[in-house]
Amino acid sequence: MIRLGMIGCGSHSTNVIFRSLQYAECEIAAAADLNADLLKRNSRLFNIGKTYDDYRRMLDGETLDGVCIVGPPALHHAAALETMARKIPTFIEKPPGQTLEQARELVEAQRASGAPLMVGFMKRFASNYVRAKALMDSDEFGPVSHVHVRYTYWPFSPLHEHLIYMSVHPLDLARFLGGPIKRMSFERHERDGEYVFAISLRYASGAVGMVNMGSQTPGVQERIEVCGTNSAVYVENLTHIEHLKGGRRKTFGQMDTWRPDLAIPSGPLFGVDEPLDTLVLQGYAGEMVHFVECIKTGQQPSPNIVDGLRSMELVDLLELHESGTFELQDA
Ligand SMILES: NC(=O)c1ccc[n+]([C@@H]2O[C@H](COP(=O)([O-])OP(=O)(O)OC[C@H]3O[C@@H](n4cnc5c(N)ncnc54)[C@H](O)[C@@H]3O)[C@@H](O)[C@H]2O)c1
Repeated sequence: MIRLGMIGCGSHSTNVIFRSLQYAECEIAAAADLNADLLKRNSRLFNIGKTYDDYRRMLDGETLDGVCIVGPPALHHAAALETMARKIPTFIEKPPGQTLEQARELVEAQRASGAPLMVGFMKRFASNYVRAKALMDSDEFGPVSHVHVRYTYWPFSPLHEHLIYMSVHPLDLARFLGGPIKRMSFERHERDGEYVFAISLRYASGAVGMVNMGSQTPGVQERIEVCGTNSAVYVENLTHIEHLKGGRRKTFGQMDTWRPDLAIPSGPLFGVDEPLDTLVLQGYAGEMVHFVECIKTGQQPSPNIVDGLRSMELVDLLELHESGTFELQDA
């Protein structure tokens, strides 16, 4: 059984990452946090082998197959430098560090180590985005011409925190759906310290993209649209997917739709192909399954730390400039 060590037992780690590990074949061999009460609580909730108030002592004292680091961004950087030096496969939550420089250091550390370093862009594993991607990759869809991502939410400042905690998600999603980005242009609007962005993209494939993101709307509004020459796919707030088929006809096409049937109980123990659990619908379960699978097989994860760096490069430009057009080195 894969033995995992957990660094960080805070809110997201406990409510989401520990719980998502129910879907992966692993045991939680050890956990570390500065807060003894949180360690006690998580020991009660989850079957943790041993707890530590210092993650370095955990890394020294345990033989671990993998480590999950979920805490402040600076901890993702500092602890992942330690796990990479020890060649331990590692999952870090987003963002991959507090700054672009820290993300760069992690890329270097991973290259020197060779151990897998996954970044928690869970949207890549969200059920309907996985469905959308499979449709996009089918011959029937036709080459992708246009990607549109909308992700707007409640006030979140200052700008750097807004970008690294929240808007980093749609930026990675736009890369996931359209591939490497060659050029980015954008306009930024500010009101009362809250920002909204209108971003246009040119992908290396030749396709174009748009990202609308910001912290000036109630709740979270999330929508993607991807158009190919023969089909289009839309996903509204993660749950509702529409696949419009019809080739180049001018009249009505045919539409397939799906949304989860939340009226029935579901979870990791029900043994169905795709449990209707928010952890699955939002992608957290899938990312943990993928991480453990990478440990077992030795394969490099996707998204990895280079994907993390690419998103932080976009974040940096969006923070430093009010508008502009920028050529990117994305491969
Ligand atoms: N992907 C998502 O949807 C999503 C959602 C929420 C949060 N997050 C990410 O999760 C991370 C944690 O967020 P949170 O809201 O749970 O924060 P939190 O403050 O609740 O938890 C952070 C935990 O890290 C611990 N910690 C800090 N320094 C430590 C150290 N040196 N050694 C061991 N433990 C240490 C703290 O004691 C705390 O328990 C953030 O980086 C955030 O970006 C991701």
